[in-house]
Amino acid sequence: MEYMEKLQNSINFIKERTNIVPTIGIIFGSGLGDLGDKIKNSHIIKYEEIPNFPKSTVEGHKGQLILGQLGNKNVVAMQGRFHYYEGYPLKDVVFPVRVMIGLGIETLIVTNAAGGVDENFTPGDLMIINDHINITGKNPLVGPNLDELGPRFLDMTRAYDNELIKLAKNVGKDIGIDLKEGVYMWFTGPSYETPAEVRLARILGASAVGMSTVPEVIVAVHQGIKVLGISCITNMAAGILDQPLSHEEVIETSLKVKGKFEKLIVGILSN
Ligand code: 6GU
Repeated sequence: MEYMEKLQNSINFIKERTNIVPTIGIIFGSGLGDLGDKIKNSHIIKYEEIPNFPKSTVEGHKGQLILGQLGNKNVVAMQGRFHYYEGYPLKDVVFPVRVMIGLGIETLIVTNAAGGVDENFTPGDLMIINDHINITGKNPLVGPNLDELGPRFLDMTRAYDNELIKLAKNVGKDIGIDLKEGVYMWFTGPSYETPAEVRLARILGASAVGMSTVPEVIVAVHQGIKVLGISCITNMAAGILDQPLSHEEVIETSLKVKGKFEKLIVGILSN
């Protein structure tokens, strides 16, 4: 089956299951998915039920789509995402984003856990993403262009919407959280970066490093959707502190930040 046909089948399947028309899509990063449980009048669809969806592998990721209301907006949220490091081709990684766009979203809020590269950051900080760096050599748009969806050569000048960045910062001020802002750099993982790679990232202008988000943002921009990106700085990247990195620390910090993160997202949605 052609990609466009698969996409339409998945979209139709979800539309038959619920009459909620979402205007905002949310992707919850590692340890940040609990906010999905606060979605009201929710309709939950497990990824495995949706035709053509990739199959979830990582534990700690729930693997379901939640449609409903959050902050008085109709939303569709991904509780669990697909990562390149799990072995999925990038066209599968971004498939759910194209589905959410097909359901009607005009804005995508992407969140992730990331390692801090900027030495002014502290684990537990939230960072608004104002740009990204992708030198992995991977891009989800490689291959024949889906002309119905977007252009062959995509302008990434304003991938992260300025108005949404301003809005997020205002909400941060209102609720008294010290939001950071910076550049997210994508590494494929699953190994964390070496200290030398982290120094490279800093020289290139990265404020944080992570293993997700960039592919999803590229296809959202491809389809003309506005993007807001938020990183939870769960730990400092390798070589900054005199201590090893662990996935446990990542999960522990994101759980600690949960309250602050949820207030911010709900505040942004209500505004
Ligand atoms: Cl230090 N690196 C990457 N690539 N992803 C992360 C991380 C570090 N910390 C949380 N996620």
